[in-house]
Amino acid sequence: MGEGETRRDFLLITTGVLSAAGAALALWPFIDSMNPAKDTLALATTGVDLSAIEEGQSITVVWRGKPVFIRHRTATEIEEARAVAMDQLVDPQADEDRVEKPEWLVMVGVCTHLGCIPLGQKPSDPKGDFGGWFCPCHGSHYDTSGRIRKGPAPKNLAIPPYEFIDDTTIRIG
Ligand code: FES
Repeated sequence: MGEGETRRDFLLITTGVLSAAGAALALWPFIDSMNPAKDTLALATTGVDLSAIEEGQSITVVWRGKPVFIRHRTATEIEEARAVAMDQLVDPQADEDRVEKPEWLVMVGVCTHLGCIPLGQKPSDPKGDFGGWFCPCHGSHYDTSGRIRKGPAPKNLAIPPYEFIDDTTIRIG
C-alpha cells in the first residue's frame, strides 16, 4: 500500500464521518419538534381518585386529549353485563375482560363509528336500549360494559391502559 492510497482512505473516512454528523444535525430539529410539549407529557398518565364517585355515578377525565369515562357500576349493571351471551355481541368480549374491578368501568369515551362522544355520563342523558351509552350521531347503543349492541359502530368502546395504584386510585396510561 503506497502513501497516497493511505491518505485517500483517510480522506474518505473523514468525509463519511462528516456527512453522518451533518445528517444528524439536520434531523435534530425534526426530532425535537416531534417530542410532545411538557404539558402534553404530563397528561400522558393521569391519576384519578375514585373515592368520591358514588355507585351509579360517572365522571369524565381527559387523558391524552381524549375523554375517558369512569363509571362506578351498580350491582344490577354488572349483572346485566355479565348475563349477556357472547353470540349476542357484535364485538364479542366478556365483561370480565374489560374491567380490573367489576364495579369500576374505565373506557375511552369515543364512539367507534366516527368518533363522536356518546351520551350516558350524566343521569339525565339517554343511555340507549341497553342501559349504557348512546351515540346520537348515527344511533349506536352501548351496554353497561360499553360494548356495542346496536347501530353502526363496529367495536366496543376501547379500554385504555390503566392500573389501580391503591384501592381507590387509578393511573391511566
Ligand atoms: S359516531 Fe357514533 S354512531 Fe356514528
